Amino acid sequence: MIEKKVNTSFFIADFEELSKQEKNLIVKAKHALKTSYSSYSGFSVGASILFDDETTIEGSNQENVAYPSGLCAERVALFYAGSKYPNKTIKTIAVTAESKDFSIDDYISPCGACRQVMAEYEEKQKSSIRVLLHSPNNQVLISNSVEDLLPFVFKSPFLKRF
Ligand code: THU
Repeated sequence: MIEKKVNTSFFIADFEELSKQEKNLIVKAKHALKTSYSSYSGFSVGASILFDDETTIEGSNQENVAYPSGLCAERVALFYAGSKYPNKTIKTIAVTAESKDFSIDDYISPCGACRQVMAEYEEKQKSSIRVLLHSPNNQVLISNSVEDLLPFVFKSPFLKRF
């Protein structure tokens, strides 16, 4: 048996340390919280995407009485990006959360399905997507690529035909 290690790196920054552009992106994710449809969980999530042409889009979590039919904010924003702007390159995605019912004292951490979808777009556009995970105490966890957030990702070569 051999042990192998996964090497991953991330950064923790104060909101104030970010560039103006990234601060704005987090503010946009916070705005997106307002459109969260999350009365079942009481947990609002906002995501914003910055494209390489400097334009942005936003998404928020959308829940459903049939619980699994709902969708996380990240995937709402990413699928919107993929369907409306299929030829744009995603530079950065920012995510934040808010709740009246729960105390959120750490970075919002995207679920596995959202990381898988982020990874797909990273592979499709052949360039890294920077991920900013905002915590309510105004700290930001920064990952320079989705690959760092999802080791052992399921990638398209696994579907190679004979
Ligand atoms: N949620 C997101 O939108 N993004 C995440 O990264 C984690 C969870 C949503 C799904 C559901 O609407 C609510 O938060 C509680 O899980």
